[in-house]
Amino acid sequence: MEMKITVSCPTPNRCTLLILVLFSFAASPLHASLSFNFYASSCPTAELIVSNMVRSASSSDPTIPGKLLRLLFHDCFVEGCDASVLLQGNGTERSDPANTSLGGFSVIDSAKSVLEIFCPETVSCADIVALAARDAVVTAGGPAFEMPTGRRDGRISNAANVRSNIVDTSFTMIEMIRLFNSKGLSLDDLVTLSGAHTIGVAHCNAFSDRFQMDSKGNLTLIDTSLDKAYAKELMKKCPSGSSASKTVNNDPETSFAFDNQYYINLLGHKGLFQSDSVLVEDERTSARVEAFANDQETFFRSWRDSFLKLTTIGVKTDDEGEIRQSCSFAN
Ligand code: HEM
Repeated sequence: MEMKITVSCPTPNRCTLLILVLFSFAASPLHASLSFNFYASSCPTAELIVSNMVRSASSSDPTIPGKLLRLLFHDCFVEGCDASVLLQGNGTERSDPANTSLGGFSVIDSAKSVLEIFCPETVSCADIVALAARDAVVTAGGPAFEMPTGRRDGRISNAANVRSNIVDTSFTMIEMIRLFNSKGLSLDDLVTLSGAHTIGVAHCNAFSDRFQMDSKGNLTLIDTSLDKAYAKELMKKCPSGSSASKTVNNDPETSFAFDNQYYINLLGHKGLFQSDSVLVEDERTSARVEAFANDQETFFRSWRDSFLKLTTIGVKTDDEGEIRQSCSFAN
């Protein structure tokens, strides 16, 4: 389509400025950005359907909140928050070994099935994943807040993109900062979002390289930043050769409560992963850990801000994405 623009120039300098402004508008992609109550007229019950589904699934299975929260993290860090992690098939993100322990898919699918009855082809799986994670935190006793919606579902999901975008427990502080920065997240967001480990579980192989059992059954700490008594407890739960499916709670004190106990644990050198422990060992982050350990409200306020940033990473709107009919397959 040809577009004719007539520019009247009061002075040559002003004319150059006006043309520059017009060109910069033409070059920037037009995004209908996310908004609060995006589904207010198209599907007024959307958020209620998701929150009811999360609540009822969590009441019969208390491990659900942790699963939904981690699912969001792994969705947003790879290709943005576009539900690409849900797509099934050979070579998709979901098939990557880094994602094999993800869960909560059935909750998302159930919410989508109900939404397809009430509001067909209207609510994106990407929004369901984000809303479900927010509601999972609320269900576990964490802070409630409004969240903008309007995300669309991605069509690309490639296992090859997973490893380079997901944090490994062996990452140094610099590596974590670099990856978080590349997603638009700050050092503060890193400390805050790691607080997600106040709920949920981890498989023994995610931390068992931090200690060793000798032939007499005695403990040797490989990672001396770990509290010895805690490491002994972990060793009992994860003796070498224990089945790969064995899990322990991320937060040994208040396992199912979304609270600031994670940070209290860190101060006591009871961070489960090496990537947790570095937050209290490193002087760039230790003060923030202390502030969250001392005051849950400070953590909750920060959680809201960082969570909203996490849930808008690489969001797709308009024809950058679609509204999937089934969350497991592109249309
Ligand atoms: C900062 C670097 C991070 C690392 C290295 C990391 C690593 C891990 C690992 C290894 C597990 C255990 C997985 C398993 O064995 O099944 C885990 C669990 C979990 N992670 Fe993280 N994570 C990080 C940040 C985050 C963030 C930002 C969130 C969410 C905002 C998150 C939410 C969770 C949750 C909720 C669980 C428990 C999952 C369940 O119960 O199924 N993690 N994480």
